[in-house]
Amino acid sequence: MPDLHHKPLPRVSPKHAPNVLVLGGTTEAGALAQALAASGIRACYSYAGRVQTPRPQPLPTRVGGFGGVAGLVRYLADERITHLIDATHPFAARMSANAIVAARQAGVPLIVLTRPAWTAQAGDRWQTVADMPSAVAALGGAPRRVLLALGRMHLAEFAAQPQHHYVLRLVDPPAAPIPLPDHHVVVDRGPFDVAGDLALLQRHRIELVVSKNAGGEGASAKLAAARQLGVPVLMVQRPILPARAEVHEVDAVLAWLGHGATLGVARGV
Ligand SMILES: NC(=O)c1ccc[n+]([C@@H]2O[C@H](COP(=O)([O-])OP(=O)(O)OC[C@H]3O[C@@H](n4cnc5c(N)ncnc54)[C@H](OP(=O)(O)O)[C@@H]3O)[C@@H](O)[C@H]2O)c1
Repeated sequence: MPDLHHKPLPRVSPKHAPNVLVLGGTTEAGALAQALAASGIRACYSYAGRVQTPRPQPLPTRVGGFGGVAGLVRYLADERITHLIDATHPFAARMSANAIVAARQAGVPLIVLTRPAWTAQAGDRWQTVADMPSAVAALGGAPRRVLLALGRMHLAEFAAQPQHHYVLRLVDPPAAPIPLPDHHVVVDRGPFDVAGDLALLQRHRIELVVSKNAGGEGASAKLAAARQLGVPVLMVQRPILPARAEVHEVDAVLAWLGHGATLGVARGV
């Protein structure tokens, strides 16, 4: 997160004042929203509406899908958006793919603010798989005690491996029955810390952690806890998206906005 109190922020020329749409739902998007608000850049923050009580943002906020590519193109035009920033989760592949196409169609420059993927460290016992079906397939065999730290979207897929005891960490209490015969739900919202995740793994005698390679600080505690306890991790790789202009720092987005769309980093690069 940038140190907003000590770092000078780039100035935006009022003549070319941006009107930004932030596709959010992540810690990084929240940090960006703070920086945009602090620098007085006009912007709107967009949530998908997946969680019951989204974190309040210091920007005007809208909630809900746009209605696919066509809906997003219409929104960009109607709201006279000058810059589109995709700060969604690395696994929000549909939204990110739609953003690429819609930005191109609308002639609006796009930049992606994302976190670097995690990489295995000494002591890690990772098995890396390409996607969620591969993770499910890798869970064949004898019953184990498994932490599924994946959110609620993919739980049904694990019904194909019903022999395990699954511990599920979810942001909200489940609204519908969970199709896993032997499970325990922990309702908690990150960021998490290593002490808490060590306690979680020990309390539930977890033998395997299933994780998306989300990257970032807030969700990495379970990996450090697994490392300390020698627990293996089944790591699901990120979905592959077309090449995009991508940065990891909020300051880089502000610099991009400060120079407007003339940098040529946006369309389909
Ligand atoms: N996937 C994860 O593991 C994960 C983890 C943490 C947070 N999140 C956040 O949760 C949200 C949904 O993730 P997902 O994986 O379900 O996305 P997804 O599968 O890529 O998106 C499905 C649809 O949800 C709508 N949508 C997604 N993000 C949106 C946003 N920021 N604003 C408005 N509409 C949005 C879009 O609907 P339309 O086609 O109708 O526009 C999109 O086509 C994202 O904002 C993401 O940053 C996701």
